Amino acid sequence: MILLLGGSGYVGEAFQKLLTKRGIVFASIARHDCDYSQPETLRELIRKTKPHFLINSAGYTGKPNVDGCELDKENCLLGNSVLPGVVARVCAEEKLLWGHVSSGCIYTGAHLDGSGFTEEETPNFSFRTNNCSFYSGTKALGEEILLSYPECYVWRLRMPFNEFDGPRNYITKLMRYEKIVEFTNSLSHLDEFVSACWETWERRVPFGIYNVVNPGPVTTKGVVEHIVKAGISNKKFQFFKDEAEFMKVAAKAPRSNCVLDGSKLLRCGIKMSDGYEAVDRALKIWVK
Ligand SMILES: NC(=O)c1ccc[n+]([C@@H]2O[C@H](COP(=O)([O-])OP(=O)(O)OC[C@H]3O[C@@H](n4cnc5c(N)ncnc54)[C@H](OP(=O)(O)O)[C@@H]3O)[C@@H](O)[C@H]2O)c1
Repeated sequence: MILLLGGSGYVGEAFQKLLTKRGIVFASIARHDCDYSQPETLRELIRKTKPHFLINSAGYTGKPNVDGCELDKENCLLGNSVLPGVVARVCAEEKLLWGHVSSGCIYTGAHLDGSGFTEEETPNFSFRTNNCSFYSGTKALGEEILLSYPECYVWRLRMPFNEFDGPRNYITKLMRYEKIVEFTNSLSHLDEFVSACWETWERRVPFGIYNVVNPGPVTTKGVVEHIVKAGISNKKFQFFKDEAEFMKVAAKAPRSNCVLDGSKLLRCGIKMSDGYEAVDRALKIWVK
């Protein structure tokens, strides 16, 4: 039996769909039924349900975007930094193996040759580097806490999307924003992401951090071209002149735009499709 925390969320629902499709028995725990952020409550839950693996897809993401985190720092810190620490401690004490949904937003940029950051590289968009949004800072802090707990998977997600139009989907966001900005980024097809995360456990690959992204970074303009070509939108996309104009006009908190290296996952035999290929697949079966 698998214990799923955060199952009501955007990412948690994708895990629920995957586990259901594969016929894997799981329990999705809602905070209003059982406040798993309290160590003793979580311990009791684990002892009662006796899971053989736990997935933590709970966390705080600002709504409609990371700017929301600047206005609710307490819950952001609780969900992204304190909660992973609580889960890690209780799982270690109860000898329960587990995986945690983290984020690639703890990096900014790419290497000079365009290559992405590996799991061995220290996050460069964090409270430590003093250049980040509150959201990114709390995600990096969450990962820092988990460094003391080697028996878990840390799965880094990056700008999720799939074929379902919705406010959390990166493709939808590009189509709904009045004006967008050109960046190069790694993305994660949400269904590929949860499937790859599950495979790390199923194949019992070594514990540790994994960048779970579609290889082959994409650019905003590139994705827009694919949207237009697929006939999903006939909007005249407007671009900010540069990041400085975007920051001045449309954003409160600094944004992470970055390229991650997904080769560690691939070396374990878990393959994600190319970035644009994954975007095209979603656009081909787009559901409004
Ligand atoms: N969506 C993205 O773009 C994205 C990108 C990279 C990484 N991630 C990471 O993926 C994880 C899940 O994100 P999501 O997009 O699925 O978020 P979401 O849709 O907002 O769902 C959040 C889930 O976490 C639960 N939760 C537990 N403690 C919480 C707290 N203190 N504050 C808020 N929610 C709490 C919520 O439970 P209730 O239903 O009880 O509120 C809900 O089930 C997060 O760790 C996030 O940082 C997300």
